[in-house]
Amino acid sequence: MSLKFDLRPSAAPRSDAEREAILADPGFGTHFTDHMAVATWTAQDGWGDSAVVPYGPFQVDPATAVLHYAQEIFEGMKAYRHADGSVWLFRPFKNAERFNASARRMALPELAEESFVESIEALVEADESWVPAGGETSLYLRPFMFASEAFLGVRSAQRVQYCVIASPAGSYFSGGVRPVSIWLSREYTRAAPGGTGAAKCGGNYAASLVAQAEAARHGCSQVLFTDAVERRWVDELGGMNVYFVTDRDELVTPELGTILEGVTRDAIIALAPELGLTPVERRVSLQEILDGLRSGAVREIFACGTAAVITPIGELKDVEGTYQVGDGQAGQITSRLRQALLDLQYGRTPDTHGWMHRIR
Ligand code: COI
Repeated sequence: MSLKFDLRPSAAPRSDAEREAILADPGFGTHFTDHMAVATWTAQDGWGDSAVVPYGPFQVDPATAVLHYAQEIFEGMKAYRHADGSVWLFRPFKNAERFNASARRMALPELAEESFVESIEALVEADESWVPAGGETSLYLRPFMFASEAFLGVRSAQRVQYCVIASPAGSYFSGGVRPVSIWLSREYTRAAPGGTGAAKCGGNYAASLVAQAEAARHGCSQVLFTDAVERRWVDELGGMNVYFVTDRDELVTPELGTILEGVTRDAIIALAPELGLTPVERRVSLQEILDGLRSGAVREIFACGTAAVITPIGELKDVEGTYQVGDGQAGQITSRLRQALLDLQYGRTPDTHGWMHRIR
């Protein structure tokens, strides 16, 4: 049975003027709406206590398991406002499916896909006025789940908190849609076979931060990891998937296994043939990419994810030097793909894939 998320309205929502000021320049991940969706799970009773409640802090016991053993997962998705004022989600059941795959890997309880989508719908309906309009703005949605039991033994929690928060968003990168520089991590890896690389769990992102800081010291906004065994095969970036455009109009991306199964990554595979491109999922060695940049066999590189959308990569860097991608500007194919995806998400082209999910 699907959970219901009835609204318990906030007694102190932000004023229209405050909200409008935030929506005029939302940034990424710093402002939150007036409500959040919640539900709890116990080993004894399963899921319950579901509602949309005023946004606010959790009271957390110092012994809460997630603080010690990081049993936690999350998702990232967006609500888009179309030109006629309607509000839509992009493939929400894909996120629901991935949330449950992450839950299984992290020994957390699954949440029925209908309940997951219902929680998102209920929150977006409650805070609909927070969905920005215009440009590439959206309402970023962050469903997450964590071990909330106060217990220090190492085992899967008997009590779990589910929550969805919402945050009006502009561009993920502070420079807007400009080609970014990527640091090639030689020292650190993010995922090993049999590990948690394919799960969307906080620990993967925590493990990327020291490499991300190294990237920042070298003027780069993201880090690219290679595999943990041979240090040879391209894995993914700190917080997004990666694609390479070849001179044969192929869109090459690392095969699934230790990487996150990105919803945007998957959409690009489906959209590619419509743009005359051939999607290829396979192992890609970093050496092949560096050689390809020199010879011209690799023409463009881009990052993709819900937050990043499709972001051109202008250069790769490591201790030995800088490898420019094409002329360092956004490539033609990257730009066409980006436009095709955004046109779909913002309702400017027909949704031939049945990906858009109307909320109101
Ligand atoms: C997303 O693209 O939604 C992500 O989760 C990436 C990052 C912000 C963690």
